[in-house]
Amino acid sequence: MTNIFLETLQGKTTDRPPVWFMRQAGRVLPSYQALKEQYTFWQLMKDPELAAKVTLLPIDDLGVDAAILFSDILVIPYAMGMGLDFTDQGPVFEHPLKDVNDPLETLNPDPDKLNYIYRAIDKILETPGNTTPLVGFSGAPLTVMLFMIQGLGTRSNFADAEKFFFKEKHLTRKMAEAVTELTIEYALQQIKHGISAFQLFDTHAGSVPFTYYQEVFMPSVKKIADAVRATGTPFIFFPKGIGTGIKEINHDICDFLSVDWQTSLYTAREMVDKNVGLQGNLDPRILFADQETIKKELYNYIPFHNQESKWIFNLGHGLVPGIPVENVKFVVDFVKQVHW
Ligand code: CP3
Repeated sequence: MTNIFLETLQGKTTDRPPVWFMRQAGRVLPSYQALKEQYTFWQLMKDPELAAKVTLLPIDDLGVDAAILFSDILVIPYAMGMGLDFTDQGPVFEHPLKDVNDPLETLNPDPDKLNYIYRAIDKILETPGNTTPLVGFSGAPLTVMLFMIQGLGTRSNFADAEKFFFKEKHLTRKMAEAVTELTIEYALQQIKHGISAFQLFDTHAGSVPFTYYQEVFMPSVKKIADAVRATGTPFIFFPKGIGTGIKEINHDICDFLSVDWQTSLYTAREMVDKNVGLQGNLDPRILFADQETIKKELYNYIPFHNQESKWIFNLGHGLVPGIPVENVKFVVDFVKQVHW
């Protein structure tokens, strides 16, 4: 069965770009909100039937060309023994590593604590009639560690964790290695269970200077990328906010780079290794505007598709709660119907 998302990942030229959205499963779908009335987030993630159902909601409700596994980047610290709760204020860890004497010693990776996720993947891929490719994912070490060290993800304030990165550089590096080891095992299991592509989310990559990122975190990213790509699975990297650092992103690191909304795709195309495909990069907040405004933005992408076939339409960051679902559907319909 051919699929436009897979064809584009394989470097084939298609009539239109494939389209999917970061955070398409949670946040904006009324069908998801309805399930959230009945179940907690952990229940939705841990029950393979429910996780499969949520993963596939955007296929039916929006018509996107790829599904993304319904899970969270913080399942890795959870599987390292850090009690995790999702509260109304965001994710919370029982014992933030900033308060712990020997952070590395307290971590206790147990790969079996991720098994429920593989059962969800099996369920998704066994769903009758479903042929949409599944994107697996994990958080990159920097972003995951900000949450682990800070303990609280509220309002993206990671001041203590950022201080830790600079004060404890050596320990930061060692911790990144520990997170990387489990992440690789996790990625390989997702692949074994049948995902079609793997995306590494580094939402907070821009919180340190790019030189620091290159030195301390890029070796880990590269290890994860190598392990994933050795299986023949396409690897998409989303290092949000790295600015001109994108000129250092080459085909050694990833197959596709997911570009944030700061950098136009045209600029990204000039700066990034030509062998790397691009994904992105509509600012999700544009979807709060009226459909005429959204349409004008979308027309700007047409010349880009004409110059670049290795491009997947997506957002510059995940969908934001409160975006009208009709506007999200409007984008999918535009991408599928306009004359590119
Ligand atoms: O489309 C999807 O939603 C797919 C699954 C997915 C979730 N989180 C589900 C989720 C993915 C790919 C993520 C990634 C994730 N999680 C990131 C990186 C991408 C990004 O959005 O920046 C980060 C930083 C997290 C950490 C996290 N998880 C935060 C900060 C929060 C609270 C705020 C929020 O809603 O994002 C979560 C909880 C979370 N993860 C929810 C969902 C659907 C909300 C839980 C709920 O509905 O109560």
